[in-house]
Amino acid sequence: MADNIKDTAELQSINLFAVQESYKTIRTNIFLSVIKEGCKRIVITSSLPSEGKTTTSMNLAISMAQAYMKVLIIDCDLRKSKIHKVLNIPNVPGLTNVISGMEKYSVAIRETKYTGLHVLTAGLQVPNPSEILASEYTARLLDELSKEYDYIILDSPPLNIVADALPLVRISDGVVLVVKQNQTTHNDLKKAIDSLEFINAKIFGIILNGVEDINKKYYKYKYKYK
Ligand SMILES: Nc1ncnc2c1ncn2[C@@H]1O[C@H](COP(=O)(O)OP(=O)(O)OP(=O)(O)O)[C@@H](O)[C@H]1O
Ligand SMILES: [Mg+2]
Repeated sequence: MADNIKDTAELQSINLFAVQESYKTIRTNIFLSVIKEGCKRIVITSSLPSEGKTTTSMNLAISMAQAYMKVLIIDCDLRKSKIHKVLNIPNVPGLTNVISGMEKYSVAIRETKYTGLHVLTAGLQVPNPSEILASEYTARLLDELSKEYDYIILDSPPLNIVADALPLVRISDGVVLVVKQNQTTHNDLKKAIDSLEFINAKIFGIILNGVEDINKKYYKYKYKYK
């Protein structure tokens, strides 16, 4: 796939859609890309910090819940957890509390104001995020939770900075990569794609975030699917 992405000009040639419509399209693409029984697990990641991973994770999760899916969003960014801030709820209890055996997942998972969308926040800060995410406990928890949801969206840290996202990708069905307009370079993106290809990850698509529509004067999303 890396060879198919020549430069940022190629990404810039993609059509613009309104935010909501874009997410519906992304959602449809994912619906069509993962043909399997039971729960589908999707990792949202990017090359570098602040490219829009959490924003994309939340919007995609909401969009899927709006399509009458039972959706769980998990904040797997244990270093810079933010989902709880977006939803304005406490971070604890969360994923790390469950993994360490301090809390039951049935207590840590909370409802949101969006019908059909539940959340598992990151939880108590830990000194060993990579180890936790790569642990057998996390894999087992995801297997258990997969019995209850149609989709699990995993918001994760940037690929080119820490290795945290890769073990999650290994136990998921695929990845959505977020690229930030005027920020992510071709090399950044190539490095991220290379790490994903190394573990044979399925890349559902690349979301070009932070694109200003010159006609409407507000930010929109571009998207691209392979
Ligand atoms: N399309 C957009 N238009 C305007 N602001 C945006 C857009 N996407 C993200 N932002 C803002 O940019 C900041 C970073 O976004 P976000 O937290 O989603 O990125 P991230 O990749 O998850 O960052 P981190 O690497 O720190 O986890 C946030 O303040 C968010 O509100
Ligand atoms: Mg984030």
